[in-house]
Amino acid sequence: MKRKIIKSLSMAGMFLACHAVVFGQTSSDSGSPPRVYTKGIAQLFGCDSHNDILGLITPGTALAVGQADAGNPESDVVRISGWTMEGASSVIYEAPDLRIKLATLSRVPGSCLTIDGSQTDPYGNKWQRVTISGRVEKGGVVADVRTVWRQASKLYAAKCSRCHGLHHPSQFTANQWPGILQTMAKNAGLQEEQKALIEKYLQTHARYEISDDARVQAQKQIKAASCVSG
Ligand code: HEC
Repeated sequence: MKRKIIKSLSMAGMFLACHAVVFGQTSSDSGSPPRVYTKGIAQLFGCDSHNDILGLITPGTALAVGQADAGNPESDVVRISGWTMEGASSVIYEAPDLRIKLATLSRVPGSCLTIDGSQTDPYGNKWQRVTISGRVEKGGVVADVRTVWRQASKLYAAKCSRCHGLHHPSQFTANQWPGILQTMAKNAGLQEEQKALIEKYLQTHARYEISDDARVQAQKQIKAASCVSG
């Protein structure tokens, strides 16, 4: 495989190419709810009781915002949608066989969970599309995901160019980056939250490959939703 090392990237807003994908409707579609995006790792609280922690959301994850709850002015009522694999249902991914982690769940009461569909990937794994309702703290989210990617690209440039030139995110696929980061996060001495932010940034701006029907279906829904543009 040909691997170029890009050495001349400026610190801020370095990558103009935009492969960011969002599944489902964009906020410009009429009738769809507004969205917010997690700035860092955010706690997902239950839809019934604010004190119930359902799990952790990864940085830069899109959340559909519902009706404000007067009883909880500090939090947004949100829904998070993605795919879980049978036998490993604690992780929500962006799409079947697209291993971009959206959230890791500890326990979700049935009242906060909807199953919207299912499909089997080419390897025989069964996937379910799930939507989870809950709450996030307002301070942990932003309305424009580009804020998150700008922060991430600065951190990436600062932490990952010490030993070699910066690799362009599109040099690898979304499914390749987590394996690379396993070693490189240790090399760079990243804290957990820094690793999560850089990983999500690299995966979201990664090379997109259509390898099976599920991805073809997914690509039909691609919206160029978030570009880091300086
Ligand atoms: C302490 C030095 C050091 C730091 C810091 C570092 N790397 Fe590396 N990186 C290396 C070395 C050495 C190699 C080549 C050998 C290897 O693949 O382990 C490499 C290789 C790579 C490759 C090529 C892998 C491949 O399969 O071709 C990528 C991509 C990469 N690093 C990404 C990163 C990212 C992302 C960060 C920041 C989180 C980072 N590196 C931080 C030392 C470092």
